[in-house]
Amino acid sequence: MPEFPYSSLRRWPDVEADNLQAHDVTDLLLVERALALDVPGSETVVVGDEYGAITLALTDAGRHGIRVHQDLATGRRALQRNAEGLGLAGFTAHELDQTLLAGARLVLLQLPKSLAELEEIADAVARWAAPDVVLVAGGRVKHMTLRQNEVLGRSLTHVQAQRAERKSRLIVATEPRPVPIDPPFPVIAQQDGLTLVAHGGAFAGARLDIGTRVLLDVLGRDRPAAPHVLDLGCGTGALAVSYALAHPESRVTATDRSAAAVASARATAAANGVADRVTVTHDDAASEIPDASVDIVLLNPPFHLGASVHTGAATRLFEAAARVLRPGGELFTVYNSSLGYRPELTRLIGVTEQLQRTPKFTVTRSIREL
Ligand SMILES: C[S@@+](CC[C@H](N)C(=O)[O-])C[C@H]1O[C@@H](n2cnc3c(N)ncnc32)[C@H](O)[C@@H]1O
Repeated sequence: MPEFPYSSLRRWPDVEADNLQAHDVTDLLLVERALALDVPGSETVVVGDEYGAITLALTDAGRHGIRVHQDLATGRRALQRNAEGLGLAGFTAHELDQTLLAGARLVLLQLPKSLAELEEIADAVARWAAPDVVLVAGGRVKHMTLRQNEVLGRSLTHVQAQRAERKSRLIVATEPRPVPIDPPFPVIAQQDGLTLVAHGGAFAGARLDIGTRVLLDVLGRDRPAAPHVLDLGCGTGALAVSYALAHPESRVTATDRSAAAVASARATAAANGVADRVTVTHDDAASEIPDASVDIVLLNPPFHLGASVHTGAATRLFEAAARVLRPGGELFTVYNSSLGYRPELTRLIGVTEQLQRTPKFTVTRSIREL
């Protein structure tokens, strides 16, 4: 059989750069391991396939009916595009739920960054997969910790780390433990008069991030309500829901590329009684929001791209804000002061003033040029 053409895969619509690839050694090890096991595609589940390398290589090798869960809207779109480009089909996309895992006997997992996300996935495997399921989780050695084994060990009895190969390592976990009646996620907490609901993969969990808090303080100063407000990269929806509570006459859209964030923000809106005024969408950089249709954008941008610090992810969201804001509309942004985003905001959006500066964070307001 010819080698699967991994290098033809693209990350698009995610950020692309010469030093960023659409597959890694962990993908290759997971595929090799799956091919060595005699489990049909219909009983195989892939979780965290970044751009489709695992699903597509296995589909190409004749494993049909694979079920896939990807958290990111960008990853989902990249998988679809890569599949179309290679003429491959026959896998199905799912949320992290029973439809994904029922009857699964092999689960391949690209280890997520956060332990909470790993805990939610491991619980879902123990809850819904077949009793003889084999979970093979992999990651880059430099990002792996013993805590990941501990977290896996709470849901599966046997957890065995394999020898590292080409700086990646697989962990094999078997024999699901009995699960508690209530799943460990979402977590619900009260923070400054707000009820926050968080799935494992949501930024900051059920806590208010310090940067978010600084932005909320600034927004709390007397400002007229705007008709349509967008929380861009909404996480658990803290900004969107706070705005909706403070301004009952406003319509708020919250959007994030992470499915865990979207589920969390929907639940946060419902828990605070504003689900009728906060619409939450799973999208990449607000691509489904029409141009010049928003009066205010609220943004606490990401600055980590995968495990490396890369400002491309924030730039994408500044460009999105510039596109969706109506002329004269306002972008409120909070960022780590060391990042010095002000010149970029001025260039991409328009006149930018500093509204607040703490030792760690800066809040700015940029006005969309007419
Ligand atoms: C720093 S967190 C802020 C979350 C929330 N607004 C808060 O203040 O707690 C940044 C969020 O942006 C989201 N994000 C990153 N890139 C995105 C993109 N291209 N489109 C939509 N959301 C994105 C991340 O998933 C994450 O939830």
